[in-house]
Amino acid sequence: MTTPIYYVNDAPHVGHAYTTLHADISARWNRLKRNEVFFLTGTDEHGLKIAEAAEKLGISPQELTDSTSRRFKDAWNQLGIKYDDFIRTTEPRHIETVNAFTQKIYDAGYIVKDTWEGLYCISCESNYIESELENGMCPIHKRPVEKVKEDNYFFKLSQFEDRLLKFYEDNPKFIEPETKFNEALSFIKSGLKDISVTRSSFDWGITVPWDHSQVFYVWFEALINYVTALGYSSDPDRFNRLWPNTVHMIGKEITRFHCIWWPAMCMAAGINPPSKILVHGWLLVGGEKMSKTSLNKIDPVDLVDEFGLDQFRYLLVKGSPFGPDSEFSYEELKRRNNSDLANNLGNLLSRVLAVVNSKCDSITPKVDTDSILKPAADLAVESAKENWDNFSPANALEAIWNLLRATNAYLETNEPWKGEPGEKVNKVLGDSLEVLRIAAVLISPVMPTSAAEILTRIGLTNYLDDVSLSDDLGWGQYPGGFQIKKDAPLFNRIK
Ligand code: ME8
Ligand code: MG
Repeated sequence: MTTPIYYVNDAPHVGHAYTTLHADISARWNRLKRNEVFFLTGTDEHGLKIAEAAEKLGISPQELTDSTSRRFKDAWNQLGIKYDDFIRTTEPRHIETVNAFTQKIYDAGYIVKDTWEGLYCISCESNYIESELENGMCPIHKRPVEKVKEDNYFFKLSQFEDRLLKFYEDNPKFIEPETKFNEALSFIKSGLKDISVTRSSFDWGITVPWDHSQVFYVWFEALINYVTALGYSSDPDRFNRLWPNTVHMIGKEITRFHCIWWPAMCMAAGINPPSKILVHGWLLVGGEKMSKTSLNKIDPVDLVDEFGLDQFRYLLVKGSPFGPDSEFSYEELKRRNNSDLANNLGNLLSRVLAVVNSKCDSITPKVDTDSILKPAADLAVESAKENWDNFSPANALEAIWNLLRATNAYLETNEPWKGEPGEKVNKVLGDSLEVLRIAAVLISPVMPTSAAEILTRIGLTNYLDDVSLSDDLGWGQYPGGFQIKKDAPLFNRIK
């Protein structure tokens, strides 16, 4: 599982958190399924954009990359991102891999010298043709583009048209959603041009191994990070075991690089393309893409401070479903915090524990094998599993919340807080505790700390360490007989 490696011209914002969090959730879900997972993120540190940002600050590019890369790492730690590796493209292991990988392509005859002339957006680090511009400006950053002309090396992308078409035909799920698959496919069909992949006009990049007067174009080497981290040049056994079983999660503006260039580069180097690319839309503020170069960016760490870690993780994922563009709204986060977290989940836990305390001497009753909640629980498990597997966390959460709402309604109908201690009250509580057990496991990829806390409070300490998704999510397994742990409410309301 990979995220894009982010440019270090400025600090991370909620847009980067959005991709990284979705990748983290998917990695955690797969770990919960006891799959082997290697989750990679990192920073993209070369190129003109970084060199110019450093110059503006009056520091060296290396100083800028060291400090900004650290800010990304710190942000991910504060967002509870459990990555297995954090790659930086200025690391020796990456430079070695880029040398080996590009040399292979060069030796195969797919890199040749030519003259590059075109229009360039430094913020995108990307070429444009006249017809793609909006009022002469970059369509993404709304900034002027630069006219460039250089003699440098080209990758013969045009020679991969047929092989790419065949690959797309053989792998209809290579890109999701399907609309992005179709867009990439028609782009290939419209004809591919060779691309300039080196630069001679500046030197903040990786030196071309066969011509030391040039450095690689940042995109051409950045994509290679995905195989660097798997041991392409340092550990071939590991590389061959893990590659190409890879999911690249990306934002829609970098589809062309990932869906066309990267598979062609893999083919040119003699390896298989990655198995899947998942493309998502943008978080917008006032209808515009949240971006490092505009004033609309929001620091995710501020939101963690305000809402709490698991709350923020839940709110971001639930409020902005993976896929389409979505408007980021602070008011919406607050509203959802109070309804979904404080009211539905938090309140369910605290009222169940309060009644166990008052009616059962603080010892939990066990679940009844037969319950009116059983069908709702089975449905939630099935739907959540399917949606986690299909990278739809917002829908997985919705399925779980349906069960939580049904359970709150069940409590309100039966009012165990009013009943006499005894069988009827015990049944209602046992059923509700069972829902808390099942729901806690299912929410754990998004809210790992809260999930563990809920389980601990109902007596199931360290339950997530060896829970089995295939054996333990069926109704009727909460054993009861535990002394509950009462504590402060799990989630605060925000005024
Ligand atoms: O493109 N909404 O880096 P980058 C959603 N270095 N996601 C967003 C977003 C937004 N408003 N803004 C950014 C680069 N992202 C290259 C990648 S990969 C070999 C090299 C996320 O710092 C989204 O994943 O511009 C997007 O694709 C990525 O950050 C771009 O980060
Ligand atoms: Mg960008």
